[in-house]
Amino acid sequence: MHPIASQLLGKTGVGGHHCNPAAAVLLLLLCRGFLPSVAVCPPCCLCTSDIISCSGCNLSTLPFDLPSYATRLDLSHNLLTALPTNWIPQPFDRLITLVINRNSISKIEVNAFNVTPHVLHLDLSSNQMTALNLSLFTGLKELKELLLFDNRIVQIYPGAFSGLHSLQKLYLSGNRLKAFPLGLYWEPGGPHNLTFLDMSYNRLSKVPVQSLLSLTREGRVYLQENPLVCDCALLALLEYWMWKQYRPLVDFKAEYPCRDDSISGLVCSQPDMLDMPLELQTYKEEPGKWLRVPCPGLTSSAEEGQVVFWVTPKAVVNSSTSDPSAHFIVLPNGTLEIRGAVIEDSGTYGCVAARQRHYDPLESVEVNVVVGNLSSASARGLTNRSGTEHFNTAFTTLVSCFISIVLVLLYLYLTPCRCRDSRGGTRGCGGRAWILCSDPREVESGHRRSNGKRVAFLEPQAEDSDICAPKTPAMNLGHVTTEGILKNGSRTVGQTHTDPAHMA
Ligand SMILES: *[C@@H]1O[C@H](CO)[C@@H](O)[C@H](O)[C@H]1NC(C)=O
Ligand SMILES: *[C@@H]1O[C@H](CO)[C@@H](O)[C@H](O)[C@H]1NC(C)=O
Ligand SMILES: *[C@@H]1O[C@H](CO)[C@@H](O)[C@H](O)[C@H]1NC(C)=O
Ligand SMILES: *[C@@H]1O[C@H](CO)[C@@H](O)[C@H](O)[C@H]1NC(C)=O
Ligand SMILES: *[C@@H]1O[C@H](CO)[C@@H](O)[C@H](O)[C@H]1NC(C)=O
Ligand SMILES: *[C@@H]1O[C@H](CO)[C@@H](O)[C@H](O)[C@H]1NC(C)=O
Repeated sequence: MHPIASQLLGKTGVGGHHCNPAAAVLLLLLCRGFLPSVAVCPPCCLCTSDIISCSGCNLSTLPFDLPSYATRLDLSHNLLTALPTNWIPQPFDRLITLVINRNSISKIEVNAFNVTPHVLHLDLSSNQMTALNLSLFTGLKELKELLLFDNRIVQIYPGAFSGLHSLQKLYLSGNRLKAFPLGLYWEPGGPHNLTFLDMSYNRLSKVPVQSLLSLTREGRVYLQENPLVCDCALLALLEYWMWKQYRPLVDFKAEYPCRDDSISGLVCSQPDMLDMPLELQTYKEEPGKWLRVPCPGLTSSAEEGQVVFWVTPKAVVNSSTSDPSAHFIVLPNGTLEIRGAVIEDSGTYGCVAARQRHYDPLESVEVNVVVGNLSSASARGLTNRSGTEHFNTAFTTLVSCFISIVLVLLYLYLTPCRCRDSRGGTRGCGGRAWILCSDPREVESGHRRSNGKRVAFLEPQAEDSDICAPKTPAMNLGHVTTEGILKNGSRTVGQTHTDPAHMA
């Protein structure tokens, strides 16, 4: 609030509810003449420099004159039932956080959020929404976090989240959803950067296992406290997540079904499953060839109803598809066949199959696949950088640095003065010397930064000076610099000493 307005109103920004509304309006009218754009803090609200809180004010509509300077607007614990298109009278261009939780909102009109284009956090939790309609949140291009938990959402229509290009975290926990909202991830215009989805405390009985496996890499999906029905595919997924120490599963271990071996009537493991530790294997093949990768631990063909998934770097495939032209084929015994391997197939592959056993953390259900020219030296040499090499580089750098210093000192002390004859007497000595050295410790630790150069800048004489530079400052400088470099590796000391202007 404008300081003059605060004085006139006899209050500071905080504590609007102490203000007599009638007096405020009167003073506001008096002020109007010379303070055109001052907005008053509405009664019951609290206003600071950039926060407006109207929490618990029994509001069923918004005050008409809400100041629009806020970056955070808190409207929680009120009686709002709908957000019509003009629910805020004027645009809130600076608004970053909008909190409207614990109201009774069941209806949000299209374009309701066009007045708040820069909001990053939107909290609509604990309201009465039942369906998320098409384009509900358009206008929120920058939104990163959307809280919709504790509503009554039964249905999410296609395109409900379209336009939320920046959305990273979405909380849909505590609703009544029966279907996993996969469209979120695949629909055009959807939040493709979503890395966190909370679907806990809903009514999901089935989840799309294959799609969830491919989402595991990109982000977290929380599924605890859903009435999930166990089958071998889901069990395989949960075992794999547990083996990967996937956070949603580790944090809520006890709230997932199908976790234990003691699931009555469900036999997902093979009769002759290998019971020895699974070691991380590497399979190599040349480009163009076919490669067979056995699933760690599996020996015989999978039983009826069992599925083996392979999580490859690009896609997830399973054993129940039999497209003979596919690049990846999962054979009935779980072995992955890569037909016509390409270099891009290299990477870590996970075999996801229900094994119904607990894993040692050292065991691996993943394998490495390397596709490349196995006979060429370059394929092997790439990963072969040793510590000795780093040391050698560092040593070479130190030696070359030392030689540079000696050369510069030789130049400074031994060259005769030839300011006038060499440059025609107009440009001075031009005696600039540069020492460029890398810090050996940086080289040693493998961090070669482009700005890791240390520069010593020796300028014995100003550019347009007619007389030769006295050697004394240069000698002091040389002493300091050399000593500094010898002590600290290549720390450079005191380039300001060299500048005659600074010394004057
Ligand atoms: C809101 O309404 C309730 C019930 O009518 C009342 O007890 C409470 O004091 C009101 N709160 C405010 C801030 O007006
Ligand atoms: C979605 O549309 C239905 C039917 O038009 C409406 O009743 C409901 O309030 C809408 N949902 C929201 C959150 O606006
Ligand atoms: C997704 O995130 C990446 C990296 O943070 C960013 O470069 C990209 O623009 C984002 N995509 C969208 C659609 O916002
Ligand atoms: C196996 O893959 C096919 C094709 O991608 C898919 O339609 C099917 O649902 C998958 N099976 C399971 C159990 O996920
Ligand atoms: C899986 O089946 C293929 C073809 O039937 C066979 O070549 C391979 O040896 C089998 N792998 C294992 C681990 O049994
Ligand atoms: C693999 O590398 C070797 C030696 O560099 C070369 O002679 C050979 O032609 C390469 N093979 C392929 C398939 O590129």
